Amino acid sequence: MTFIIIKLHLNNLIMEEGKQLESFEAKIAAGHKIEPKDWMPEAYRKQLIRMMSQHAHSEIVGMLPEGNWITRAPSLRRKAILLAKVQDEAGHGLYLYSAVETLGVDRTELLHQLHTGKAKYSSIFNYPTLTWADIGAIGWLVDGAAIMNQTALARGSYGPYSRAMVRICKEESFHNRQGYEIMMTLAKGTSEQKQMAQDALNRWWWPSIMMLGPSDDQSPNSDQLMRWKVKMESNDAIRERFIDRTIPQAEFIGLTIPDKDMKFDEKTGHYSHGKINWDEFFDVIKGNGPCNAKRLKDRNDADKNGRWVRDAAIAYAEKQLKEKQAS
Ligand code: 3HC
Repeated sequence: MTFIIIKLHLNNLIMEEGKQLESFEAKIAAGHKIEPKDWMPEAYRKQLIRMMSQHAHSEIVGMLPEGNWITRAPSLRRKAILLAKVQDEAGHGLYLYSAVETLGVDRTELLHQLHTGKAKYSSIFNYPTLTWADIGAIGWLVDGAAIMNQTALARGSYGPYSRAMVRICKEESFHNRQGYEIMMTLAKGTSEQKQMAQDALNRWWWPSIMMLGPSDDQSPNSDQLMRWKVKMESNDAIRERFIDRTIPQAEFIGLTIPDKDMKFDEKTGHYSHGKINWDEFFDVIKGNGPCNAKRLKDRNDADKNGRWVRDAAIAYAEKQLKEKQAS
């Protein structure tokens, strides 16, 4: 008898879950946002935590390659702009950690995953910034690719993530413009400066198109993310839009895209490109990129050296709370 009651109860639960999934997907199909308190399938919550935490980690780690040039910027103006950009990235990271926490996870755990090498962050930040032109290339290409991706994510189904993207995209546009202006200035400068810009383009072009994720046939998460409108376009679709927009910009400042197979296809209206070295990509995200170890060490050092600030801030907040409760 008990077995039958349990079976009936289980069937009811499955039917109930089926109905909830149906109304969840109808809500997304109608273009409504899913908010933290709404019912959502566990797989949706897990995907969001994975993607949003990696995005937050990418913003924080992304400060390191650029931070390396704040003291070396060629003028006070460039230094002020770079300082503002790096501070923006810190804000994006904190913004995104807050958005992930709406899903019931704690940023302490997320940061522990980053500091122990368990969590991923964007492959692009595992490359070194060798000259000032790299700062231009990052703003122009990396923030340019990020804007392509993030303006699509701003239309996504999860409310806190899509709203975070609106503010972040506004700041990314400034990042992208200042990077392109650095490259334009160098390209119009002396022959050495133009060569420095071309060398940076040669180093950052392929890692920038890889950062938008593996090709669609190698992307295990895209289908589910696109079904539930977390991702609005596939990796390859965003990559194509980024390439189509960036090549004319390179030509305008007289730089050459380091891809001898790159050509404009009149029929499709898009650029076709050479083979992407996915072995390099997967090697970098496995931890074998040029700077993975340094990025992890720098992040752990920053966390350790900043602990006294966090402890003081928490102690002060606790003192404030005690005084408020006592009054
Ligand atoms: N770097 C590191 N790992 C990557 C990656 C990259 N560029 N692209 C994909 N991967 C990983 C994925 O995390 C996944 O591994 P996992 O299942 O263990 O998490 C695996 O490779 C397969 O990739 P998928 O295509 O299936 O993964 P996604 O569907 O998540 O797509 C993505 C990858 C396009 C990066 C997507 O996660 C995304 O859009 N994320 C949000 C945006 C983001 O994170 N941007 C990073 C840059 S932030 C930045 O540029 C800051 C700016 O200020 C400069």
